[in-house]
Amino acid sequence: MNVLVTGGAGYIGSHTCVQLIEAGMTPVIFDNLYNAKAAVLDRIEKVAGKRPEFIQGDVRDKSALVAALKTHDIHSVIHFAGLKAVGESVEKPLEYYDNNVNGTLVLVDAMRAVGVKHLVFSSSATVYGDPASVPITESFPTSATNPYGRSKLMVEECLTDFQKANPEWTITLLRYFNPVGSHPTGEMGEDPQGIPNNLMPFVSQVAVGRRDFLSIFGNDYPTPDGTGVRDYIHVMDLADGHIAALKRLNHRKGLHIYNLGTGNGSSVLDMVKAFELASGKQIPYKIVDRRPGDIAECWADPSKANKDLGWAATRSLQDMTTDGWKWQSLNPEGYPE
Ligand code: NAD
Ligand code: UD1
Repeated sequence: MNVLVTGGAGYIGSHTCVQLIEAGMTPVIFDNLYNAKAAVLDRIEKVAGKRPEFIQGDVRDKSALVAALKTHDIHSVIHFAGLKAVGESVEKPLEYYDNNVNGTLVLVDAMRAVGVKHLVFSSSATVYGDPASVPITESFPTSATNPYGRSKLMVEECLTDFQKANPEWTITLLRYFNPVGSHPTGEMGEDPQGIPNNLMPFVSQVAVGRRDFLSIFGNDYPTPDGTGVRDYIHVMDLADGHIAALKRLNHRKGLHIYNLGTGNGSSVLDMVKAFELASGKQIPYKIVDRRPGDIAECWADPSKANKDLGWAATRSLQDMTTDGWKWQSLNPEGYPE
């Protein structure tokens, strides 16, 4: 089965391509390399034993998408491509709506033109806003507090309306919690450009000596140790969730929504301790003010995905930090240019 993977050169997309190959499927990567390096293709080949086809293109380019879908006889699309930095989205809302919302509309239009009717979309737990309670089920109300989150919510709504009007389509919205870690070989991992926005890439850059200390954004939240609690999920488990969605929902037309999380919450200090254990390095930190827009706690009820997709996260916090450290220590500057 040939699968077009938009954004497949990025962090989650590249790990998913490895698991697609392992599952006997054929990924075709469509990425404009805005936030990725071509070297990732060598690493996918090294790890999975097969080099994926690569098309350098933009999801806002309908004719390039139509050509890719036709030439490669695509059966399904996994749509990772987009921009993902919350702070940047506040500064550049137009760019976020253009890449994330317009990009998705152009992609669906291209798929319709060719007759490809199976789409898996990368959504986020951010669509739950500040949840009234935890764990979060798929039926919780949705809201957005920044343009990034709003772009995910808008895409979810557009795709829901589109699927209603086109009941022969299969569209799956996967709401990721906090993906971390890397391929266990350490050949592939997260390679943020500039100062990392997210916790674990920052922690690993402190461990490897690229940054002096971690700033912990607040220790006065109503959580067991006062720091924010999240549902960290190993990127390989997340990748497997996509394979499960493609396989299980292949013949189930409809609009499907799943949380991809572990169901466990860990605090910032839990993550720092786990990373220290995995790396044998001390992580110096300072407590600073809360980050605007942050919430106290957020973790998934993944039972719907467990039941319907036959999928569950199996990798531990120790796997996440051990594999993350392997990648960072073997590739202190990330992928080569
Ligand atoms: P990433 O930035 O590593 O990957 C995104 C990829 O899309 C990059 O390779 C980039 O070059 C490409 N891209 C961006 N705009 C494009 C465009 N217009 N045309 C073609 N390619 C384009 O990010 P990631 O962490 O792998 O995230 C993948 C998806 O998952 C994103 O949609 C993101 O919003 C979503 N998501 C990520 C997280 C997370 O914590 N990483 C959490 C929830 C949801
Ligand atoms: C962030 C995004 C969210 C996105 C998610 C996954 C914000 C406000 N939210 O969520 O939309 O879906 O990433 O990509 O950016 N922390 C520190 N110091 C740091 C970095 C983080 O203490 O240098 C803390 C945060 O306060 C939080 C936890 O670590 O409690 C996790 O932060 P992060 O990795 O940025 O993820 P989220 O805030 O959950």
